[in-house]
Amino acid sequence: MVTRISTGVHSLDAMLEGGVPEGFFIAIVGEPGTGKTVLSLHFIHQGIVDGDKCIYVTTEEDRESLLDQVGRFGWNWEPFIGKRLIIIDALKGQEDPWSIQDMDIELLISKVIEAKKALGYGRSRLVIDSISAFWLEKPAMARKYSYLVKRVLGKWGFTAYLVSQYAVTTMFAFGWGVEHIADGVIRFRRKISGGVLKRYLMIEKMRNTRHDKRIYEIDITDRGLVILNPADLDIEHVTSI
Ligand SMILES: Nc1ncnc2c1ncn2[C@@H]1O[C@H](COP(=O)(O)OP(=O)(O)O)[C@@H](O)[C@H]1O
Ligand SMILES: [Mg+2]
Repeated sequence: MVTRISTGVHSLDAMLEGGVPEGFFIAIVGEPGTGKTVLSLHFIHQGIVDGDKCIYVTTEEDRESLLDQVGRFGWNWEPFIGKRLIIIDALKGQEDPWSIQDMDIELLISKVIEAKKALGYGRSRLVIDSISAFWLEKPAMARKYSYLVKRVLGKWGFTAYLVSQYAVTTMFAFGWGVEHIADGVIRFRRKISGGVLKRYLMIEKMRNTRHDKRIYEIDITDRGLVILNPADLDIEHVTSI
């Protein structure tokens, strides 16, 4: 029997038979500015609302920027920090207890476990935004590192979002490894149409789930990510333009 947990975006839950299966490791992939971080913030916010233990690892923007972003959505996370939520900020110096001093996968794993122990028992959610930052300089390690993360952190019972960037120049996913180990893949796309940026989301893979297979146009507003309509968009090869 699969237990599903809410993504925090109710129309996305409906595309997933109710939510993502507990314990899954889900790759969130796509080009810059398409909504990966916003989707991850929804996932953590829903965790806070549900009383889950939440860990957010940020390598792209600092803790204050994330708290500002969620503030724009009308959410105040500050009272939950240290209780239900720890934001591990890779951009902070060593004076910050919840930082990582190096983009090192072993340091990341041990810091996440330390955070989990600090938060204590309970259903837990993890976001690593982004996991590809840990193999930026050694893309050949992507697959090995992804396995390591899943093997070690999988034992801790997390339901996890592993965010993966594309290289802007080539549009190839650094996260080639992560998509292969993932139990699910949610992919974002973007297109310029009529001179306007459009964003799309598709569930490409979700084990154990009869998921929606259409590509949806999405929008990001002051209420966060909104799923609009299915789009008539043909993409032949999803990792290149
Ligand atoms: N409050 C808001 N209202 C409208 N758009 C927003 C708002 N907050 C963020 N955005 C949009 O979201 C984009 C960033 O999305 P993000 O999830 O951070 O992208 P990424 O895929 O790189 O993680 C911004 O470029 C902006 O277009
Ligand atoms: Mg981001």
